[in-house]
Amino acid sequence: MGPRIREAFQCSGRSGPLPGRAPVVAVVTLGPVDRPSGAGTVAPVSTSPVASRLASAPLLRAIRQEPGGRVPVWFMRQAGRSLPEYFAARGDGSILDAIGDPARATEITLQPVRRYGVDAAILFSDILTAVWAAGFGIDIVPGVGPCCKQPFRSADDLARLRRIDPPTDLWFQVETVRNLVAELGDVPLIGFAGAPFTLAAYLVEGRPSREYVHVKSLMMGDPDLWHRLCDRLADLAIATLTAQVEAGASAIQLFDSWVGALHPEHYRRFVAPHSARILATMADQGVPCIHFGINSGELLDQMAAPGVSCVGVDWRTPLASARARTGGRVALQGNLDPALLLAPWPAVEAEVRRVLADNAGHPGHIFNLGHGVLPATDPDTLNEVVRLVHAEGRADGGT
Ligand code: CP3
Repeated sequence: MGPRIREAFQCSGRSGPLPGRAPVVAVVTLGPVDRPSGAGTVAPVSTSPVASRLASAPLLRAIRQEPGGRVPVWFMRQAGRSLPEYFAARGDGSILDAIGDPARATEITLQPVRRYGVDAAILFSDILTAVWAAGFGIDIVPGVGPCCKQPFRSADDLARLRRIDPPTDLWFQVETVRNLVAELGDVPLIGFAGAPFTLAAYLVEGRPSREYVHVKSLMMGDPDLWHRLCDRLADLAIATLTAQVEAGASAIQLFDSWVGALHPEHYRRFVAPHSARILATMADQGVPCIHFGINSGELLDQMAAPGVSCVGVDWRTPLASARARTGGRVALQGNLDPALLLAPWPAVEAEVRRVLADNAGHPGHIFNLGHGVLPATDPDTLNEVVRLVHAEGRADGGT
């Protein structure tokens, strides 16, 4: 791979830069750096004693819906924007620079595990990392989100989504996972990737969107190109996840955050087959798969596809109805409203108890938020939530 190509460009949010703030000027990174020669020693994937302790980790027991033990808890976006130590480690560059540096990515992944005592680490990366590594031309602009100067609009753009070879193109991620597995001991590491619809939403719109006009037009107007795009994105997800699992990740989560924008019939026709291919491929590798989307109450039955061990539930759907919709086939992960973490503690405490009561002691529950931690969240509140879930959560079949 050639030298890193950088180019300054401006990508403001939907309504432009906030008043009083400097305009956001991003550095677009067209692809990750080459592996430095003599880069850090690669820790071997740990073997039997830790592996057997890992197998009985609360997270993995909950995914298997095993009774007994405590209710595990972790938070989507636990690493990052709400932690002062995150900003110190991340530096000023694009988040992709930190992701491409195994030492920093390892440290940032470990920060919330040390601080909160959560039951899982989630790899510090992004759903766009594979697309970035493929050289599509995308950056994650602070305060805005993923932006690309040239959105995906025609078959010619498929050429910008080349297949990746993880040992070369994602070497930094493989090394980060290996470092983490060595550091984490019996705390499981969750690997992840973006699902085709959510990735396509960024590639086709070119920036975060509310209406998904371009992506829906492509889906309906040129189904053949839509399916070719999703096929390519599914290949990227499979390559990424396989590399993470081979390097030692204990579970994977497929993020389809924005899929709730779709009618269930459109999900069935245009999206489900592609996500199902990823999930079935990963399940065949023996790794438990969590499938997550927000606003996805109407899709939960389809999202609990073959190969899925657990579905993420956002705060709009009570856990009891999520369990009914999925027929008890899968574990549930969720579902405290992340906005409520900014309320006074007595209200937060009541909500944590309500979520636990909603689950009614069912063994297959991973406590989490309905979506990611908001930047303004006080880390001490998350600490208290972990303490409370560990003290009060029961997975014994009835509370
Ligand atoms: O959960 C974790 O702690 C692990 C790290 C992680 C990040 N992104 C780091 C990140 C994970 C799992 C993601 C997934 C991700 N990225 C999703 C799916 C989850 C979700 O929130 O629905 C999505 C949609 C993205 C795309 C993305 N990346 C967005 C919309 C943004 C937000 C822009 C912003 O500034 O808030 C990002 C940036 C991002 N990814 C940050 C972090 C810590 C903030 C970047 C920064 O440091 O400025």
